[in-house]
This record gives sequence, structure tokens and C-alpha cells, in this order.
Amino acid sequence: MDSNRQGEHGRAVLVAGASRGIGRALVRALLQREDVARLFAVARDWSGAALPEDPRLQLITLDLTDDAAREALAATLGEHCEQLDLVINTVGFLHEPEGQQPEKNLRQVNIAALQRSFAINAGIPILLAQALLPLLRGHRHCVFASLSARVGSIGDNRLGGWYAYRASKAAQNMLMRTFAIEWRRLNRDSICVLLHPGTTDTGLSAPFQANVPEGKLFTPEFVAERLLTVIAERTPADSGNFYAWDGETIPW
Ligand SMILES: NC(=O)c1ccc[n+]([C@@H]2O[C@H](COP(=O)([O-])OP(=O)(O)OC[C@H]3O[C@@H](n4cnc5c(N)ncnc54)[C@H](OP(=O)(O)O)[C@@H]3O)[C@@H](O)[C@H]2O)c1
Repeated sequence: MDSNRQGEHGRAVLVAGASRGIGRALVRALLQREDVARLFAVARDWSGAALPEDPRLQLITLDLTDDAAREALAATLGEHCEQLDLVINTVGFLHEPEGQQPEKNLRQVNIAALQRSFAINAGIPILLAQALLPLLRGHRHCVFASLSARVGSIGDNRLGGWYAYRASKAAQNMLMRTFAIEWRRLNRDSICVLLHPGTTDTGLSAPFQANVPEGKLFTPEFVAERLLTVIAERTPADSGNFYAWDGETIPW
């Protein structure tokens, strides 16, 4: 048996979207914690990730949009641990250089952009939960946290625009809340939450930072610590809800 196999030795954690941005900062922050025994980091490409060497850290290269790759993931993880204690999905898509951009108005809405945003922002989180379900069963405290965005709140939408991103994050919120209800029946100590990180200085927000008020553009390191605190404060009664980086509940 793997000498680091989880049990009394500490938590087994998985971070998806771990090669850059908030996901990478979460990996670095988790490696500072002694109660983390195994850290599975999932991404498509590790070049430039510059993560520290650590025997607890296992880099897994796969494309989460690939059905077969997701199915193989649970089997691979099962070789190292019986259950996951914490899963954090950070995968998200807003824009690409020279390609898809957030819509400024209705005229710019198109089906290809909607489908792509929904596939990544809503599809990946719920299909990741589906793939990992064998490792999320049982009767012990287990958290699945997925990064959403305040702009995905329907009740909080005052500015308009960004149709595909907003709608795909709102769709993620519904999918994960639905999963939270089903998961509670399988594990009463389960906690599934959506998290808004706040505007964070990463590639995703880079073109849109000009109007961010002073002091409101967070570093990925600050956000990683905040999100881990918000996660640690949650109980099963909180499952299925949407929280901001400061622990406040965000309306749907
Ligand atoms: N930054 C902000 O201000 C902000 C605000 C609100 C919410 N968020 C949310 O926070 C999360 C993390 O964002 P970030 O700021 O860290 O952005 P980022 O630096 O752009 O990172 C995005 C992550 O998503 C992954 N990803 C994108 N498309 C993918 C695909 N098709 N398949 C697999 N992985 C894909 C990327 O992996 P690759 O490296 O393989 O592309 C990367 O790990 C996102 O869900 C975002 O919507 C961010």
C-alpha cells in the first residue's frame, strides 16, 4: 500500500485548474498546511506552473472536457486514496486573446460562444463531481467547492453584458446546488459550495481591471487563503449555497 495512503495521516485534496491563477495559488497555500497528506493537482498543461517540489503533490495532466480522461481520473486517484476530503474546482473561462470575448450587447451573442462557456463553466464542474463521486461517498466530512462568480448571480445583475459568462456561471450554480441535494443523501456530512473569489489579478481578469476600485483587486495568494478559510468555516447545513471570499452569502 502507498505509504502516504490517506487515513489517519491527513486530508486528501484535489484542485482542478491548478496550473495558474487562483488554482495554482490554492495548491501553494494547501502545501503550507500540515494536515494535507495528499494533494492531487489537475490541469491540461504544466509548463510555466512553477509549483514547488513536494512529495505530497501529484500533478495529473488531463483535459477535463474529455469523458474518458475524467473516468480514468477516479481510477487513478483510487490507487492512492480511498476518499477525497476536499475538492476545489477553479476551472473557468471568460475570454481568449484574439478569440471569444465577453459580449457587450445582445448583438454579440452567438451560439458557439454560449456553448463553449456552458461546456467549461457549467459542464466541467458537474462532470468532475460525477467522475469523483466514488471518492466522495461514505460518512465523513467532505467538501466540494467550485469557483463561480458574483456576475453569475441573477439577483445581483445590475449592469448586464457578459451574457455567456453570466449565464454559464448561473447554470453552474444550479447544477451544483442540485448535486448538493443528491450528495447529502449519499453522505450527510457532505458540503458542496459555490465560491466567488472577488476580482483577482489573474489572466482571466487582466483585460477588465481598469475600473476596479483601489484595494479591490486581490492577489491570488490573498484569495487562496480567504477561500480556504471560507471553506473551513462551512458545515453540512451550508451545503448548496453560494459564498463570497469574505464569507458573505450571495443571492442566486
Ligand atoms: N479572476 C477573477 O477576477 C475572478 C472573478 C470571479 C470568478 N473567477 C473564477 O475563478 C476561477 C479561477 O479563475 P482565475 O482567475 O484563476 O483564471 P485563470 O488564471 O484564467 O485560470 C483559469 C483556469 O481554468 C482552466 N481552464 C480554462 N478553460 C479550460 C478548459 N477548456 N479545460 C480545462 N481547464 C480550463 C485553466 O486551465 P489552462 O491553464 O489549462 O487553460 C486555468 O487553470 C474561474 O472559475 C473564474 O471564473 C475569477
